[in-house]
Amino acid sequence: MTSVPATSALPSVGFVGWRGMVGSVLMQRLQDEGDFDRINPIFFSTSAAGGAPPSFADGAGVLQDAYDVETLATLPIIVTAQGGDYTAEVHPRLRATGWDGLWLDAASTLRMEEQSVIVLDPVNRSVIEAGLAGGVRDFVGGNCTVSCMLMGLGGLFRNGLVEWGTSMTYQAASGGGARHMRELLDQFGALHSSVAVNLDDPASAILDIDRAILAKQRHPSLDATQFGVPLAGSVIPWIDADLGNGQSKEEWKAGAETNKILGTETRIPFDGLCVRVGSMRSHSQALTLKLTQDLPVDEIEAIIAADNEWVRVIPNTKVDTVSGLTPIAATGSLEIPVGRIRKLEMGPEYISAFTVGDQLLWGAAEPLRRMLLIATGNL
Ligand code: HSE
Repeated sequence: MTSVPATSALPSVGFVGWRGMVGSVLMQRLQDEGDFDRINPIFFSTSAAGGAPPSFADGAGVLQDAYDVETLATLPIIVTAQGGDYTAEVHPRLRATGWDGLWLDAASTLRMEEQSVIVLDPVNRSVIEAGLAGGVRDFVGGNCTVSCMLMGLGGLFRNGLVEWGTSMTYQAASGGGARHMRELLDQFGALHSSVAVNLDDPASAILDIDRAILAKQRHPSLDATQFGVPLAGSVIPWIDADLGNGQSKEEWKAGAETNKILGTETRIPFDGLCVRVGSMRSHSQALTLKLTQDLPVDEIEAIIAADNEWVRVIPNTKVDTVSGLTPIAATGSLEIPVGRIRKLEMGPEYISAFTVGDQLLWGAAEPLRRMLLIATGNL
């Protein structure tokens, strides 16, 4: 065990996995909001213990060993974005020491454990508070698609207006990880290179270009190590593990996590297909909801818009939709646009909706950042 730097009155918080993609976004948000002034951060590393702390955290001590459970156990709060393997290895060992601090985790490993709460405080602050009061010590960020969907449509769910829902997703490359984003861009580049000469020639035939692209997409030289098959110029209608019952694990999460986040007593059926598309870091989803009542569209929009300060209802016109309801519009912003809200032909209680959210902000880092603020009495 190494001693961690003595602290002032500020609560000490251990950070693990702060250099990866989700961790980096989390660090940036903490800096942007001045949150490091409210805590005493201790940085851990799985590979560089003893090294220099990050430059953005003034006065932090040297990096601690992320596998040293005795040192971890000296802290009241640990935040990890190190990934599921780390959680699976370290969390049980740490709890076995008798540590009863708060474990805030971006990985899915502990999400569905009975003694954990999935955090998304604009939607389930009461579930979080009840958990804290009832002795819950593990607080886990939700699946990105689920969190973004509930930030957008939480108003309908929380007012008991959803009888059932189905979500067809358009999930960005970032959901796979940083290497997946690089692979997508490499594929786009390779495809473009393979027809660049023809593209420059206005007289070239588009069907020749199309044939050449398809040949490149099917050629083993096109690197698809991360996704398994090419994504550029295609879609992949399967995300995460095959559960063996026709459902992907990502699709299972949609129903399971939605209900757990909301703390529903009677399960709201929620299911659909999850699809990987070639966008970078914002997940989109098209929803069909069966409402419990026939409400006018303007009332539905008002309920959605009033639910939290980040949701933005996009008027259901072509102009507003194509400018405001795309991954390009949503990326880098905490705003969650929701649009395409209209009644469907199936009946007056059936509505469509389309929503987009930055997978790394509300989909990953922001709920954890806010849980840290709640845990330290700052929110
Ligand atoms: N499982 C998600 C995806 C990652 O693959 O897009 C965010 O939870």
